[in-house]
Amino acid sequence: MLKTEGLGYWYQDKDQPLFQDINLEFYIGQSYAILGHSGTGKTTFLSLIAGLDKPKEGDILLGDRSLKKIGLTNYRRKDVSIVFQAYNLFTYMSPLNNLMTAMAITGAKHAGDKVYAKQILNDFGISEELALRNVQHLSGGQQQRVAIARTMACDAQLVVADEPTGNLDEDNTRDVIAQFQKIAHEQQKCVIIVTHEPDVADQCDHQFRLENKQFTQLA
Ligand SMILES: Nc1ncnc2c1ncn2[C@@H]1O[C@H](COP(=O)(O)OP(=O)(O)O)[C@@H](O)[C@H]1O
Ligand SMILES: [Mg+2]
Repeated sequence: MLKTEGLGYWYQDKDQPLFQDINLEFYIGQSYAILGHSGTGKTTFLSLIAGLDKPKEGDILLGDRSLKKIGLTNYRRKDVSIVFQAYNLFTYMSPLNNLMTAMAITGAKHAGDKVYAKQILNDFGISEELALRNVQHLSGGQQQRVAIARTMACDAQLVVADEPTGNLDEDNTRDVIAQFQKIAHEQQKCVIIVTHEPDVADQCDHQFRLENKQFTQLA
């Protein structure tokens, strides 16, 4: 579904790439963890497959179309949904309006459907009362749940997450990964999670490690 072909990236020095000649495939209905020490380029890799930046070398294809062909703006609006470590919610809105706005912006098939949005939030442990509160008055775990619920409410087939459990305790971490698994398996999406926590990676279907400029498949 998503494929990198000879992908390479560097910031300043072409002779010091973060990674080079990366050929990976990611499929619908599966979850993937990308492990690696701090500074190895995990966030950079994610920003490329999320269409936030362009490769320096090689290409990224969705199906058989290059992201260059699709256009990064179009790709970000329609094809990919992003969850960051720091929740990236619309902070001046309630959880309910976060979902409603995201569905409207992306033209999701459930756009405008409040009952559906409330149902998803409820499935993620956000009660009707919490769904109407300003998100700034929710705990970290609750905010991350809203961020993931928002991903679920939209139709993008690719979900990428950068250290989504970085700010969470053990219980919330387990919960959040279980929800990503649900998105992959029940909603038939492709989920790619960057993490430095082996425990988190163990819960995903597949694991890659970014080390010495290369990705190695661990599971
Ligand atoms: N905008 C940037 N300009 C220059 N160097 C950067 C930039 N962003 C990140 N880097 C450097 O690139 C390397 C990889 O960063 P990053 O992708 O954030 O790694 P990770 O997410 O694995 O910790 C780090 O050494 C970082 O300092
Ligand atoms: Mg990072």
